[in-house]
Amino acid sequence: MRTQVGIIGAGPAGLLLAHLLHQQGIQTVVLESRSQEYVQKRVRAGVLEHDSVELLKAHGLGERLEREGLRHEGTLLRFGGQTHRIDFPSLTGGKSVTVYGQQEVVKDLIQARLESGAALHFEAQGLRVAGLKTDQPTISYLEHGQERTIHCDYIAGTDGFHGICRDAIPKGVLKVFERTYPFAWLGILAKAPPSSNELIYANHERGFALHSMRSPTITRNYLQVAPDENLENWSDQRIWQELQQRLETSEGFELVTGEIFEKGITPMRSFVVEPMQYGRMFLAGDAAHIVPPTGAKGMNLAINDVKILSSALIQKYQNGSGTALEQYSLHCLRRVWRAQYFSWWMTSMLHRHDLSDPYEHKLQLAQLEQVVSSRAQAQVLAENYVGMLDPRG
Ligand code: APR
Ligand code: PHB
Repeated sequence: MRTQVGIIGAGPAGLLLAHLLHQQGIQTVVLESRSQEYVQKRVRAGVLEHDSVELLKAHGLGERLEREGLRHEGTLLRFGGQTHRIDFPSLTGGKSVTVYGQQEVVKDLIQARLESGAALHFEAQGLRVAGLKTDQPTISYLEHGQERTIHCDYIAGTDGFHGICRDAIPKGVLKVFERTYPFAWLGILAKAPPSSNELIYANHERGFALHSMRSPTITRNYLQVAPDENLENWSDQRIWQELQQRLETSEGFELVTGEIFEKGITPMRSFVVEPMQYGRMFLAGDAAHIVPPTGAKGMNLAINDVKILSSALIQKYQNGSGTALEQYSLHCLRRVWRAQYFSWWMTSMLHRHDLSDPYEHKLQLAQLEQVVSSRAQAQVLAENYVGMLDPRG
């Protein structure tokens, strides 16, 4: 078998890349180790930046997004019992974000791919890549017990943080930059209408809490917990109680509760590899970098990587120029590092790093005061949140 671009992983990065290339007549095969059902149900992030929404709409992926996505023109910061609003449009020249679950983006992309008739294989097992430094790298895998090999011009490593592509690069080639945080997020989805029209990011002395949503009837909430926390210790009742306490205000706040139908613990990590390329394989999305979710940047970074990668590949196929491909890594990493900084900044400002250190907490409250009382600081938050990360484009 032969294809032009072999794409490994059917997350937002791989599926969107396949879509953008297919629209320009470039042949692709997408290989995913999990089942379609698993991929469509996996609960992940939920905030799309202004430019991510525009890109999806411009490529025929906006229909359900425009109907069901929730446009948010601001976000709330809650600390010291008070709520402060950051208004996006007035601070960013009219921009906003859209709350739309990552698995909804994935469903829309899978549907578009299936409708196009182009190749998308789920449950591809034992996947391996080879010949990355040659001009015909290969992907081998097992399909129903049969070994298959695909010869490609290029390979896209869009197989997430735990994929095989990054590890297929010889030791010593990549530089790894990494930080783990001394806490994790316990996240829930519940059948309960949102208790606020906008997301609430709360710094509380008991730890961080986030009130988010998926639709007018579903809320998504998060609690900072210890990195080794056991889900079994968290009954539904304890989760609601803790959320209520951390989201409380001096005027009173009532969190609407409901049936919890999904619960999970996510570790918090910052991670980047450089460069995002080895020979004819390009890494994109979580395969190359991870941010803690506090800034809501993960899915948007994946989208931005494949926007850059697709346009570089299109340039190569349509006019033979490889310059953009050569600059792929450099180009992506500018925004990646801006997002790393913003995510680290939000994470550091909002979480209790050491619950026994009241000095640290006082400093955070002073920092938050400054963010909400200085227009310049509020603008920095708003610009980063809606996605104005790379003024050079
Ligand atoms: N072979 C084939 N597919 C694989 C393999 C493998 N060996 N290993 C992993 N995969 C698949 C995963 O099952 C997953 O569907 O690759 C896909 C990678 O998708 P994501 O993890 O969603 O990563 P990405 O597309 O880069 O999207 C980044 O995901 O984790 C969030 O916050 C992150 O929102 C961001 C987004
Ligand atoms: C979510 O709704 O899942 C969400 C929202 C904002 C974040 C992280 C996650 O910063």
